[in-house]
Amino acid sequence: MKLAVIEGDGIGREVIPAALEVLDTFGLDIEKVSLELGYARWERTGAAMTEEDLDLIKECDAVLFGAITTVPDPNYKSILLAIRKGLDLYANVRPIKPLPGIAGVTGRSDFDFVIVRENTEGLYSGIEELHEDAAYTRRVITRRGSERIAAYACELAKKRDNRLTIVHKSNVIKADKLFLDVCRETAEDYGVESSDMLVDAMAYSLMKQPEKYDVVVTTNLYGDILSDMSGALVGSLGLLPSANIGEKYAFFEPVHGSAPDIAGKGIANPLAAILCVKMLLEWLGEKKASLVDEAVSHVLQNKIITPDLGGTSGTADVGHAVAEYLRSH
Ligand code: NAI
Ligand code: MG
Repeated sequence: MKLAVIEGDGIGREVIPAALEVLDTFGLDIEKVSLELGYARWERTGAAMTEEDLDLIKECDAVLFGAITTVPDPNYKSILLAIRKGLDLYANVRPIKPLPGIAGVTGRSDFDFVIVRENTEGLYSGIEELHEDAAYTRRVITRRGSERIAAYACELAKKRDNRLTIVHKSNVIKADKLFLDVCRETAEDYGVESSDMLVDAMAYSLMKQPEKYDVVVTTNLYGDILSDMSGALVGSLGLLPSANIGEKYAFFEPVHGSAPDIAGKGIANPLAAILCVKMLLEWLGEKKASLVDEAVSHVLQNKIITPDLGGTSGTADVGHAVAEYLRSH
C-alpha cells in the first residue's frame, strides 16, 4: 500500500512525525510518498499545490495529512477542497468521544457520537463570484450528494446504535429541505431510526445533552463548525481525528489547523494525528488498530500530556510514549 504523507505547515510538521512513529510500530508494508504542500511551498515556489502533486496523490491509496496554513492570496483556492474534490472524498467522518482522565468543558464523559459531514458540496462548493461591493458563494445540495452521504451515515449507524440525527436549517435555507428529505428517505430504506435538528439548536444540544446522539449527518459547513465545537466537549481540538472517505481513496487528517500560535514550540498535541493513524489502520482492516486506543489511554493515564491538556510534555514525548507502549504490547 502506498501512503502519501503531507505534513503541511505549522504544527502539521510536528504532529505528523509523531503519528508516523506510531504507524511504524505496526511494521506494515507501507510505501510512504512525502509531498510538500501548503503555505511554505507557496512562499518558496508561488504554488501551494500543482496538478502534478494531485496526480502523485492519486497514485497512492491513502493520505496522511497534517494541516496547512491558508495562503493569504485572494486568488488562492483551498488545497484541501481541491484534494477532497479531486479524490472524491465525499464523507468526512469525525468520531467524538471522551478520552480517559480528560475532562472537556462540560465535564461529561457519557457521550460517544460520530459527525458524518458531507464533504464535496454545500457552502464549500468553491463556486464563487467576487465583486467589489458584493460577493456570492453558491451553496450546492444535490440528490446524489445527499444520498451517498446519508447512505454512508446509515451504514455506520447500523454498526453502532442504529440512530441517525439529520442536522440542517431547512426552515430558512430551502436547499436544506432536499438534504433533509433525502436523508430521511435513506434512513427509512436502511431501517435506521432518524430524527432531525436545526443546526443552531443542535449546537446548543450537543453541549447540553451530547449523550443523546449516535450518528449525526450534516452538510459541509455545519459539520465543520459542529466538529470543532465538539473538540471542547472532548477537551482539546488536539484530540480529534478525522477521515475523509471516498469510493477509492481515504485521507486522514486531524480536525485542527496549523496552529501558528504554538507552531515551532514542540508543544502541539499529537494525539489527534495519532488517532488518525488508528483510523487509517481500521480502513486498512488491520485487526490491531484498537491497540492505538489502548496506548493513548495509557499515556493519558500516566499524564504524559501536552500543555493544552494541562501537562508539560512535548509533542515528541507523547509520540514516543504511545509508540513505546505499542512496541511492548
Ligand atoms: P487551529 O485549529 O489551527 O487552532 C485553533 C486553536 O486550537 C489554537 O489556539 C491552537 O493553538 C489550538 N490547537 C489546534 N490544534 C492543536 C493541537 N494539536 N494541540 C494543541 N493546541 C491546538 O485553527 P486556526 O488558528 O483558526 O487556524 C490556523 C491556520 O490553520 C489557518 O491558516 C487556517 O486556515 C488553517 N486551518 C487548516 C486546516 C487544515 O489544514 N485542515 C483546518 C483548520 C484551519
Ligand atoms: Mg475545520
